[in-house]
Amino acid sequence: MTPQILTHPLALHLLTKLRDVNTIPSEFRSYCRTITNLLVLEATKKLHTELIKIDTPLVQTDGIKIKTQIAAVPILRAGLGMLESVLALLPEVSVGYIGLERNDTTGKAKSYYCKLPRLANHFTLLLDPMLATGGSACQAIDLLKVHGGTSIALVCVVAAPEGLANLHTKHPEVQIFTAAIDESLDSMNYIVPGVGDFGDRLYGTL
Ligand code: PRP
Ligand code: URA
Repeated sequence: MTPQILTHPLALHLLTKLRDVNTIPSEFRSYCRTITNLLVLEATKKLHTELIKIDTPLVQTDGIKIKTQIAAVPILRAGLGMLESVLALLPEVSVGYIGLERNDTTGKAKSYYCKLPRLANHFTLLLDPMLATGGSACQAIDLLKVHGGTSIALVCVVAAPEGLANLHTKHPEVQIFTAAIDESLDSMNYIVPGVGDFGDRLYGTL
């Protein structure tokens, strides 16, 4: 599916802060939370709603309730930096976790943890800030599908063309929301210009 890219000036400002090598982890986490808010607003724009009646202190009036059941699944570890924003925006969300870590030499991700709720009849937000080769996202989506996921959106901060192509080949129906599509991958499969290692920058493990 064609990726949706944020164009809001605030998103571009926040992304610049994330890219900046001088941004320290506490600021990096804060910028990550705010840019995730913008991404999640975009990703949830077309949720189904229903009309309900409510009482204000004065009268009865019509209100709107989100009808779609939503699940959020961060890919550990960097996806955890996005979870708090989702929980604040969508407090009733069900949360699952997938642990994947890329091997620095092969670039392939190895799975080390998976705890997922039942995802049938849910709209699932898969949270991972970096879509590089797309190997991690594709593996995670395989797992979401095994657990019943059919309506899935990947929410990332930066995507590489290689990862987008990989995802398009393996999971063409998955929606993608990102703040940027960068130029390419380097020889170590890092996104260029990118932000560096997102997990390390979030948690100060450089
Ligand atoms: C990073 C990132 C993605 C993955 C993207 O995680 O958060 O999960 O790399 O790369 P890919 O598209 O080539 O698979 P990493 O494996 O570094 O683990 P971490 O979040 O624990 O640092
Ligand atoms: N994972 C990251 O954290 N950064 C990249 O550039 C690629 C994968």
